[in-house]
Order: sequence, then C-alpha cells, then structure tokens
Amino acid sequence: MKNLLICTLTLCSFGLAVAAYAAPEAPTGKILLEHTQKKSVPFEHSEHKDVPCVTCHHLVDGKETFAKCASAGCHDAFDRKSDEAKTAKGYFRIIHEKSPLKNKTCLACHTEYVQSHPDKKKDMTGCKGSDCHP
Ligand code: HEC
Ligand code: HEC
Repeated sequence: MKNLLICTLTLCSFGLAVAAYAAPEAPTGKILLEHTQKKSVPFEHSEHKDVPCVTCHHLVDGKETFAKCASAGCHDAFDRKSDEAKTAKGYFRIIHEKSPLKNKTCLACHTEYVQSHPDKKKDMTGCKGSDCHP
C-alpha cells in the first residue's frame, strides 16, 4: 500500500513537472492574421523578441494562454460596425485601440515605440503601405 502511494505521488509530481515545462515555443516565420476585412496582416515573433510573451498572450482566468486571438468566445466579433466590436470581443479593436485597455494592443505599443523611433512611424503606425498593411 505504502509503495503504491509513493508510486502514485512520484507519477503525479512527474506529471506536474512535465506540465510546468510544456510552455510552447514561439513559432518562427510569418503568421497571417486572417480575420481582417481586407488583406491579412503579417506578424512575426522574431520582430517581438524583446516583448514578454504574456504581453500579447495575456492571462485568461489567471493563466497565460496561447490560443488564437479569434478563438470562439474570445476576440471573435469581426464586423467592425457591430456593437460587440466595441467590446473586448472586437478583433479590430484589440489590434488598433490606442486608449489604454487591460492588455496593450498592437497599435498602442507601436504608437509608443515610434515616439523614440520616428523613422519607423510610417512602417509601424501607418495604414496602407505600412508593414502591417503592405
Ligand atoms: C507582440 C505580441 C506577441 C508576443 C510578444 C508573443 N506572441 Fe505569440 N503570437 C502572437 C500573435 C498575434 C499570434 C497569432 C495569433 C492568431 O493567429 O490569432 C501568436 C501565435 C503564437 C503561437 C501559435 C498559436 C497557434 O495556435 O497557432 C504560439 C505557440 C506562440 N505565439 C507562442 C509565443 C511565445 C512562447 C512567446 C514568448 C516567447 C510569444 N508567443 C510572444 C503575438 C505575440
Ligand atoms: C508591446 C509592444 C508591441 C506589441 C504589443 C506589438 N508590437 Fe509589433 N513591434 C514592436 C517592436 C518593438 C517592433 C520592432 C521595431 C523595429 O524593428 O525597430 C515591432 C515590429 C512589428 C512589425 C514590423 C515593422 C517594422 O517595420 O519593423 C510588424 C508588422 C508588427 N510589429 C506587427 C504587430 C502586430 C500585428 C501586433 C499585434 C498582434 C504587434 N505588432 C504587437 C512592438 C510591439
């Protein structure tokens, strides 16, 4: 009985250890953000190496998540003109909103960044012809 208990405990802690080390790697290469109303937007982790994962892969119920932004029940309101799009469900909004939200949007961070890197203004905060909407 005692052996069984020890064995169970060992297996449990092994399971926990595996879970603790199972954080995913950031994908290499370009990811296309597809739920846009026109062309998809290219995103590369390599350009964001200095940004902590949790800034973008923010906590959900206290846990960091690597689910896609537009997963069902998350930021899945795609019609920019809908009422839902004005809430945290709004896909366009969580990418572009510049006033402070709970988590920093792409454009909010880029807007801050170009203050000290003005040469990057068009590429990082422009619309058409920027690196986001080439
Ligand atoms: C600047 C924002 C940002 C940072 C920082 C960031 N990511 Fe991501 N990550 C994204 C975006 C955007 C996607 C694409 C999500 C989508 O397709 O909806 C993504 C996708 C992923 C995916 C693929 C998810 C899938 O199901 O396809 C993984 C895994 C991932 N990131 C891991 C990481 C890890 C690990 C780190 C830290 C080392 C990290 N990311 C840092 C924004 C970021
Ligand atoms: C917390 C800050 C931060 C967030 C959030 C962030 N970025 Fe960035 N992004 C950066 C920085 C810093 C760079 C690198 C700028 C450089 O090369 O000088 C960058 C570069 C880029 C570039 C390349 C621009 C260029 O000219 O080098 C694209 C495209 C881009 N980001 C898209 C996105 C998208 C899409 C999101 C949201 C899913 C996002 N970023 C979120 C900070 C951020």
